[in-house]
Amino acid sequence: MSLLIKGGRLIDPATKRDGQFDVLVKDGKVCRVDSQIEPQEGDQVLDASGCYVVPGLIDLHVHLREPGFEYKETIKTGAMAAARGGYTSICPMPNTKPVIDSSEMVRWLKDKAENEAVVNIWPVGAVTKGQMGKELADIKAMAEAGAVAISEDGKSVMDTKLYKEGMIQAKEAGITVLAHCEDKTLVGRGALNAGPVAQRLGVEGIGNDVEDIIAARDIILAKSTGCRLHLCHCSTKDSVAMVKAARADGIDVTAEVCPHHFILTQDDIPGDDANYKMNPPLRSREDRDALVEGLSQGIMEAISTDHAPHSAEEKSRGIAKAPFGIVGSETVLSLTMTYLVHTGKLTPYEMVERMSWRPAQIIGIDRGSLAEGKVADITLIRPDEEYVIHGADFVSKGKNTPFEGFKVRGKVYKTIVGGKVVFTDDQM
Ligand code: DOR
Ligand code: ZN
Ligand code: ZN
Repeated sequence: MSLLIKGGRLIDPATKRDGQFDVLVKDGKVCRVDSQIEPQEGDQVLDASGCYVVPGLIDLHVHLREPGFEYKETIKTGAMAAARGGYTSICPMPNTKPVIDSSEMVRWLKDKAENEAVVNIWPVGAVTKGQMGKELADIKAMAEAGAVAISEDGKSVMDTKLYKEGMIQAKEAGITVLAHCEDKTLVGRGALNAGPVAQRLGVEGIGNDVEDIIAARDIILAKSTGCRLHLCHCSTKDSVAMVKAARADGIDVTAEVCPHHFILTQDDIPGDDANYKMNPPLRSREDRDALVEGLSQGIMEAISTDHAPHSAEEKSRGIAKAPFGIVGSETVLSLTMTYLVHTGKLTPYEMVERMSWRPAQIIGIDRGSLAEGKVADITLIRPDEEYVIHGADFVSKGKNTPFEGFKVRGKVYKTIVGGKVVFTDDQM
């Protein structure tokens, strides 16, 4: 079976291509890339004129909720949502029940994903057993079973000595540490950014220091251990400044920003609506602008979603009581195009770097490239297609989005995993 993708604008940072190229896919691999490829008998031709043709998007940060919280999302539905969002690879965080904290659990996840997920699943193991912060998980065994990273996402490992030992083991195992930065002793019952909006709504605030203190600590530990550190969902201006300084100092640290943090601020919160509640919270305008600038300058090298589905009932409890998190898989590409690409903050090429090529490198997987011979994970994008975001259209079980009713420009057209089309937008 061969598939010829014709007439698109190929954007592939790995091979530094950006221009009109045809792509021939054979046996699940990129077989040939050329300015003109004539179809041979038996080739299925896919007309990509007007489209961007890019290496499949890679999300370093999702929550699939299985096992344990299947009413929020499953491996199957989360993978379908990712495919609809243009993703061909996703990294599910280990805060499930039970936690993904052993080689057996990593293998269980991989096997289940193999059978049920339409996109590639790259497991992330927990740093500590049960994410209890008391005892390290078997990091080496999880890496051998296929974990590409470890993370305590949902919280930070507050025991610095234990965490440092985990970083050393991650380095020895050759995997990345994905850091959720939140000082547990400072955050209290905080629900929104510390400031006038939290005050008006009568909930406790989460200061920037809650994030900045742990980001600083983790960077210092990355320096002393030499481990590969990646900061999740950065939300503060000082996190950008610290990543910039760390990299200037030669420390192996990268960072991601999620659409809600680079688009919204606390001032966008209309009232007691938990679709605006996530961790870390929506910050100030100054923070938001610094994140955009950080992405623009390439200090922040990845865009991820922190796709965090919850049930409608859970999210209806109001800001003080509802769980943290919003869905993101199905809106990220359109939001990034609308707020960063069409506004000139990122070129299309830089967007592909932030959403595919650099994420692949951050976790060390052989993806994010459309060089000949690579696995044919490919996303087709219609850059000028406009539509309105409606949670009801999501295939994710989670509909908890603050972007309901947003008019966006740029839409995923097709998602191809290993040469097979797993998603097509038929709402044309
Ligand atoms: O908003 C969030 N939701 N932040 C986290 O760190 C955890 C996540 C979740 O698991 O729902
Ligand atoms: Zn987190
Ligand atoms: Zn998360």
